[in-house]
Amino acid sequence: MTTIDSPLAADEGTQETSPQMAAPETRRNAVVSFMTAALSFLLVAVPSTLGGLFFLDPILRKKNAASPGNAGGAVAAKKDSEGFIRLDVSASSVPADGTPVAVTIRDDIEDAWNRFVDVPVGSIWLRKNPDGGLVAFNSVCPHLGCSVNFRRSENDFFCPCHTSAFSLDGKKTNDIPPRNMDGLAVVTRTDGKEDPAGTEIWVRFQNFRRTTAEQIPL
Ligand code: FES
Repeated sequence: MTTIDSPLAADEGTQETSPQMAAPETRRNAVVSFMTAALSFLLVAVPSTLGGLFFLDPILRKKNAASPGNAGGAVAAKKDSEGFIRLDVSASSVPADGTPVAVTIRDDIEDAWNRFVDVPVGSIWLRKNPDGGLVAFNSVCPHLGCSVNFRRSENDFFCPCHTSAFSLDGKKTNDIPPRNMDGLAVVTRTDGKEDPAGTEIWVRFQNFRRTTAEQIPL
């Protein structure tokens, strides 16, 4: 018995792609591959670069700050290597009768990513002793951290939060605060050099732990 193969089936089995048809498809595949690779590269490279710059930023800024002539990186001139900060008031402006004056302490604050120049960091009470010497107290109440006021009617320091009271030499006068007011080192200088007759006032500002009988620096 003779079978006759369909001419159509024979055509399907032997169909070939001509070189003229394959060339455009190969080019299209190449273009798609290239675009995919480029897009993948951008998706990885851009976030990596931005992330790297973010983490390197403190190092780069420190390098810039160290560059000669870079005024933006200059250390504030009003703080010395021992931590004394020059106040904006002169010794002659502190009342000789012992009345305390409140002074805001300003300093530069810097962490790995930010630098804030000359910002308020606290406040002190400053007064003259009868011998003309200066004394300074951190105005933060050692009880729970409210601000201690000068109470003119009683001529003492008083905290309105829980009625802690202190004499003008910083000693506590009732049992509410755990310790005396926190005294701070203060000196007078001329052109930055220690001078008892100088009019520049320099204070080593510090904060201390609250609620403790001992004075513990933070
Ligand atoms: S915080 Fe000053 S008395 Fe309590």
